[in-house]
Parts: sequence; structure tokens; C-alpha cells
Amino acid sequence: MRSYLVCFRDSCREKYPINSVLYQCPRCGGLLEAGYSWESAGASAWKSLWRNRRLENSALAQSGVWRYRESMPFLEDLSQVVTLREGNTPLLPAPTAAQYAGLDVLTFKHQGFNPTGSFKDNGMTCGVSQAVRLGRTRVACVSTGNTSASIAAYATAAGLKPVIFLPHGNISFGKLSQALEYGALTLQVQANFDQILAFVRQIADRAGLYLLNSINPFRIEGQKTIAIEMLDQLDWRVPDWVVMPGGNLGNCAAFGKGFIEMYELGLIDRLPRIAVVQSAGSAPFYEFMKAPTEDGFRPVESPETLATAIRIGDPVSWPKAWSVLRRTNGIVERASEQEIADAKAVIGRAGIGCEPASAATLAGIRKLVASQTIQPDDHVVAVLTGNLLKDQDYIYRYHTGQLKAPGGEPIISTYGNKPVEVTADADIVLRMLERL
Ligand code: F0G
Repeated sequence: MRSYLVCFRDSCREKYPINSVLYQCPRCGGLLEAGYSWESAGASAWKSLWRNRRLENSALAQSGVWRYRESMPFLEDLSQVVTLREGNTPLLPAPTAAQYAGLDVLTFKHQGFNPTGSFKDNGMTCGVSQAVRLGRTRVACVSTGNTSASIAAYATAAGLKPVIFLPHGNISFGKLSQALEYGALTLQVQANFDQILAFVRQIADRAGLYLLNSINPFRIEGQKTIAIEMLDQLDWRVPDWVVMPGGNLGNCAAFGKGFIEMYELGLIDRLPRIAVVQSAGSAPFYEFMKAPTEDGFRPVESPETLATAIRIGDPVSWPKAWSVLRRTNGIVERASEQEIADAKAVIGRAGIGCEPASAATLAGIRKLVASQTIQPDDHVVAVLTGNLLKDQDYIYRYHTGQLKAPGGEPIISTYGNKPVEVTADADIVLRMLERL
């Protein structure tokens, strides 16, 4: 078998055919991942192959995911690929954000430049391509918003029917509107993300739905190429730290898999340390990592945060994320609503911008520099997971002093920038401009 599914648990490692429709190991219930018997052409051959593809116009070469397809050879027939030219997201240096965090240099890998505005597209191109390969016609996910926008676009583009389950009232209108516009059957459920995911996992098979949450190993394969693309863009110089927000923890699992495989295949000579930042109101992984044990994970029953993308109390991928943190000497930090809001405005002022969950990175880095966990001269790349325009209501409220934390406490608009009402009077406007 060149590619296969394999149980993630060290104690099991049972293998299954790559075209099985499985979300967990039938033998032990563990998470699954894609595994390969690599036919590596050699580290430098892969590096130059991937670099040279940037000069090509074919769809597969233009995708910042499929360009790296030798790293995820799960699909034999590449005509089944569904791509919207995802990936290709920039590395952006942000001096003002670096200064805010106490770093000499800080670089953002901005996944908000993706076709539907988040990193989910990197995974969804693979998940939907696998659905096509399996001949499935209905795909589904439970989502805090971005996965649903992404599945809606990719499934519709492929002629499949997307069915999405959302926690009613707790996703931003930006994300909901994307799902509607792309034509998904959109089911708003009066329950939180964790409850809906448990429900949908039970009914998926009966309803003929192929599940594309991040428990789907093919999503993880696509998301791991974010790490590979980052390394390619850095000319394979490994950062000291890679920092990302944590919700369901699929991204941490994916980045870890990407870095570890690149290390084991000899494309890099060390691993970066991974730091995951959670929102303080939804921080089960942060709590767990204080004293981690096999049976010590305690979900947060009623997670709350304005960063709705990461409002998740029972992240399914925690065992994979834990393993990644052990392997990379990684850590977890948490950030308050105020810290996230201010960090987000600072990222905006850098001319970059992002959605609230993404700003947890900068808030977390600032705390980790203050506690001397990250050193000022460390090479740090932070992943901005979603686009600024995903959650406009939050932005308007912050800048006009109306943003309130879930408990009702006001968020201070430390970097507020209110719109100013003015009449069309030249003297008044000119006087205002003199003060600029
Ligand atoms: N940032 C954004 C913008 C997200 O949308 C998500 C997850 C995360 C971070 C957390 O990533 O789950 O891999 O740890 N959003 C999912 C969704 C859950 O449904 O769109 P994670």
C-alpha cells in the first residue's frame, strides 16, 4: 500500500485502505491519519521540483496545496482534484506588531488570503477531492463558520451538495453569508459546536453524509502544506517558533505532521517549537497542558468567547495536538477578550488585519515574550487564520466603544478609531485635517 489510513494511537497503529470512509479507528476508537510508504526523490529534488512549479500555469501547480502533492500522495487520479487555487498565502513582516509583542521581528503567515478567506481552504481542497474519489455526493461539516464557508465553496464548485450545521447565533454574519451565497443547505442548531459535532457524528452514515470536519484525515493533509509552504517561502530556514490559535486543534495537528514529516524526510534539520493560543473562555487544552496525562483531558462545558471561531470546549484533535507539542517542545498560552481585541487592532494598524481568533496569536506571543518563554530575538512566525472581513460587527463595535465580553463587561477600545461625522463644509474639514 503506497498510502493508507492508520490509527494515530501508538498502542494500535492499525492500517486501513486509503479509500475507507472512517473517522476513527474501528479497533480502538483512536483518531486516524494518512500514512505513506514514501517514494522520496530526495530532499533537494523535492525542493527544486516544488520551487519550479511556481513557474507553471497548470491548476495543480498554481494551487499552493497541490504544488506540494508529493508530500501527500493519497490520490492516484489527479483529475479528481477540486481546487480554487488555495494556499499561496504570503509571509508578511509586521514591525509594529513585533514592537507590540516585544520582538525584534515578527512575521505573519496570512491564511486570510485564501479563496474563502481562511486556512480551511487548504484542507478542504483535499477533503472534497477525496469525496469525489469516493463518489460521495453529499458532504457535511459542523462549523464555527470558516469550515462551513469553505466546504460550501469547494463542494459547490465540484457539483456536490454541502450540508452545514452551525451553532445558532454564534457565528459571524460574514461566514454565514458565504455559506448562503455558495448554496449550502444551512442548518442552524440551538446547541454549541461540541454538542452539534457529537450529534452529526452519530447521524452522518445514516444520512449519507461524508464528514469534512478536521477529524477527516484528508483535511489535515491539506492543512499540513501550510507548514510546507511556509518553509519553502523561508528557503527552508526553520523558525524558532510557529504560533497559532487553537480551537478544535486540527491545525496544530496538521502543522505538526507537516513539520515532523519534512524533518524525517530530511528537508529541514530541526523542528520549530509550536505555541498554541486559546481564548481564556474556551481553553481546555491550556488547562490540560498544565499537568497532561492520558485520561486527564477535561472539556469546557460552556465555552464562551467573542472569538467565535475558537469557541470550542471539547476539541476532537487534542490527542494529536498533545503529541505535536511533546515532539516540538511546544506550549499552550491563553489570552483574555481584552488582550485579543487589542492585539487584533494592532494587527489592523500594521495594515494587515485579521479576524478575532487569529489575533489570539499576537496576544499570546506578547505574554510569552513577557514571561521570557520567547526571546526578543527569536524567529517567530504567527499564523493569521482568517481574513479581517470575516467579522465586521466585532470591528465596528470595538472601534466605537460598544464591544462587550460574553459576560457583559465592556472591552476598552484601547486602539479605537471611531468614524467622525462631518458636514460638507470646507473650513471644518480643512481644520480637521490640520490636526492630522
Ligand atoms: N482560527 C480560525 C479563523 C478558525 O476558523 C478556527 C477554526 C481556528 C482558528 C482554530 O483552528 O480548530 O484547527 O484549532 N474553525 C473551525 C470552523 C472550528 O468550524 O471553522 P483549529
